[in-house]
Amino acid sequence: MKTRAASAALLVLALLPGCASARPPRPELMAPGPPERGRYLALNVSLCVFCHSEIDWKAEGFPPRAGGAGAGRAPFSETLPWLAAPNLTPDPDTGAGRWTDEQFERAIRQGVGADGRTLHPAMPSASFRSMSDEDAAAIVAYFRSLPPRRKALPSPRIPPEIRGRLRPLPPPGRVAGPDRESPVRSGEYLAAIATCGHCHTPVDDSGAPIPGMEFAGGTRLKGPWGDLHAPNLTPDASGIECLGEKGFVHAMKTGEMPGHTLNAIMPWGFYRGMTDEDLRAVFAYLASLKPVRHFIDNSVAPTPCRKCGRPHGLGEKNSD
Ligand code: HEC
Ligand code: HEC
Repeated sequence: MKTRAASAALLVLALLPGCASARPPRPELMAPGPPERGRYLALNVSLCVFCHSEIDWKAEGFPPRAGGAGAGRAPFSETLPWLAAPNLTPDPDTGAGRWTDEQFERAIRQGVGADGRTLHPAMPSASFRSMSDEDAAAIVAYFRSLPPRRKALPSPRIPPEIRGRLRPLPPPGRVAGPDRESPVRSGEYLAAIATCGHCHTPVDDSGAPIPGMEFAGGTRLKGPWGDLHAPNLTPDASGIECLGEKGFVHAMKTGEMPGHTLNAIMPWGFYRGMTDEDLRAVFAYLASLKPVRHFIDNSVAPTPCRKCGRPHGLGEKNSD
């Protein structure tokens, strides 16, 4: 219920006019067909390869380890050590070789594994639900075009109390792509399938997005990269109001912000391959959101925050 109300609110908000000066030009109408389109999405937009690979956490931009792109990762993370991101290369025994296209797509947009099990939400199917049929098919075609890698991964051992709460998403039905004539609509689509909200929208204790806080930041990410919170992306002074379109595109392509470099757990090492048109569309969408006042700063020590309920840098500056 909460989630549905939140996404309805998001839709309404997105219809409000944004910063007119920040409107980008029309994105390219022609998108490359699969598997080139699939490669673009899997690598640079939807982060499949970022999660489904062993990562070199010491290298610039956190690239996949040599030969391991798409071959899975175990343990998935420090905070979810009992989870593995499966091998998506076409190896028949340890990877996706025996999955049908339906099984593959059901995992992406519905959160149901090839064996019928409901997947843990670390696999961001809720973000992928709005992915078009064409894009989902292009991604599957891309993974099928990779050389098979033999890599057996441990079965997940999801704690029973968490497993008992998992529910698959309803089937997405037929999903069309966004109206590419509208940068805001295009950007809304891209921000969803690029899982920006998976990190930048704070969740409550049950894992549900906090209503009214879409893209307003606060989610904690702890691991070999450090211990950070994803900041506010709404067009407020405490968010990206002052960054501007140019600064935003530059940050997404280089990790460079005015005065500091972003930790690569903000996956700019992958997003940097996004086209300028697509990045400008994402910016147009974010600029069209309702501004939320929520200060977050990773360069200062965490203090309690009454707005998102979790401690983070500059938490004390926020009121509810
Ligand atoms: C934020 C990390 C993350 C991203 C991004 C991500 N995945 Fe996953 N994925 C996971 C994890 C973790 C699992 C395992 C969940 C479980 O075992 O319950 C998973 C499970 C899956 C499965 C189920 C495999 C099976 O055993 O049935 C498929 C298929 C899959 N992902 C494909 C994709 C594709 C394609 C993309 C990009 C469109 C993608 N994933 C993006 C983390 C991610
Ligand atoms: C895996 C989690 C994750 C995902 C996915 C993610 N981000 Fe981030 N993002 C972060 C974190 C963490 C930071 C803070 C990094 C730092 O402080 O060094 C950040 C910082 C940023 C910043 C800089 C903001 C500031 O005020 O410093 C921008 C802009 C940004 N992200 C945009 C995006 C967009 C747009 C998307 C989707 C296309 C996205 N992010 C997806 C985790 C993520």
